[in-house]
Amino acid sequence: MEEILRCEKISKVFVVKDFLGINKRKVKALQDVSITLNKRIDLGIVGESGSGKTTLAKVLLLLVRPDSGSVYYRNTDLTSLPDSKLRFFRNNVRIIFQNPYKSLNPRLSVEKTIKEALFPKKTDPGMIEEILIQTGLPADYKHKYPHQMSGGERQRVAIARAIAGSPECIIADEPTGNLDATTEVHILKLLDGLKKTLGLTFLFITHNLKIVVSFCETIVIMYRGCIVEQASATQILKYPLHPYTRVLWNQSSFINPVEEYKDREGCVFLFGCPYRKKICFNLQPELKEKEKQHMVSCFLYE
Ligand SMILES: Nc1ncnc2c1ncn2[C@@H]1O[C@H](COP(=O)(O)OP(=O)(O)OP(=O)(O)O)[C@@H](O)[C@H]1O
Ligand code: SF4
Ligand SMILES: [Mg+2]
Repeated sequence: MEEILRCEKISKVFVVKDFLGINKRKVKALQDVSITLNKRIDLGIVGESGSGKTTLAKVLLLLVRPDSGSVYYRNTDLTSLPDSKLRFFRNNVRIIFQNPYKSLNPRLSVEKTIKEALFPKKTDPGMIEEILIQTGLPADYKHKYPHQMSGGERQRVAIARAIAGSPECIIADEPTGNLDATTEVHILKLLDGLKKTLGLTFLFITHNLKIVVSFCETIVIMYRGCIVEQASATQILKYPLHPYTRVLWNQSSFINPVEEYKDREGCVFLFGCPYRKKICFNLQPELKEKEKQHMVSCFLYE
């Protein structure tokens, strides 16, 4: 296997003030998170809102610096490099954000958006048109501005911007999260097609386990900033081990069993778990290999 991107023991805490700006509380967005993305083995990150998925994506791109831990791109430690030295990496690993209404600059035409992503590479004649056609948009859309397009079309432009410059890897952060069901299917088909024709590797972030098991080979399940399970898509589908993964399977949209974030001792899934026992109140279980290449963090398996 050829490793592209890896992070080791990443932790990130945000300090959040209340609406009066008086009381502060800490949010552990990521706790000791380690993942590896290998070439042509798409990795899916699944978790409910607030589980730390976007923070992880931003840390992997060094858009957010972790409090501790390291990020490696092809075995180079990026965490030790200043932003000015990260351009080579950011050209090779691109991101598609969830909300194309926010991620595209409203003042830039489609052509300028893509040209900006290609910079400092020269834009050959016909190149922009070719990229647009690859993403299923007519070539003359290069003259359009974001407000002149639908949500699905904007997301195609965001995808065009991501594939411009021929990256080897794309981090897709809930790329269909803001789209209706039909457009979602079209965008997923597009991404799947691009994956094959351009040889891309995806790190695909979603809250929808059903989508990701058909798109990715390996799945990581996150809850409250922790990885609670990691396995092949087949294992997650047939033999989900962690109680939270089972909840994800059984609910079309997951409702957080804990109303408010509270930093406390014990397992992160304590208050959502019907199987909790005494030890679960005091300790967070380690992520351990239960079966071959099937990792789980739960005292039920210790
Ligand atoms: N810049 C920030 N400042 C303060 N808190 C933040 C910041 N970014 C994220 N957080 C907090 O960190 C936690 C994880 O947020 P994150 O956006 O990574 O979750 P997510 O899994 O991507 O959620 P969603 O599915 O809603 O996009 C949340 O509690 C969030 O409020
Ligand atoms: S460690 Fe305990 S509380 Fe946490 S998921 Fe397992 S059984 Fe449930
Ligand atoms: Mg997010």
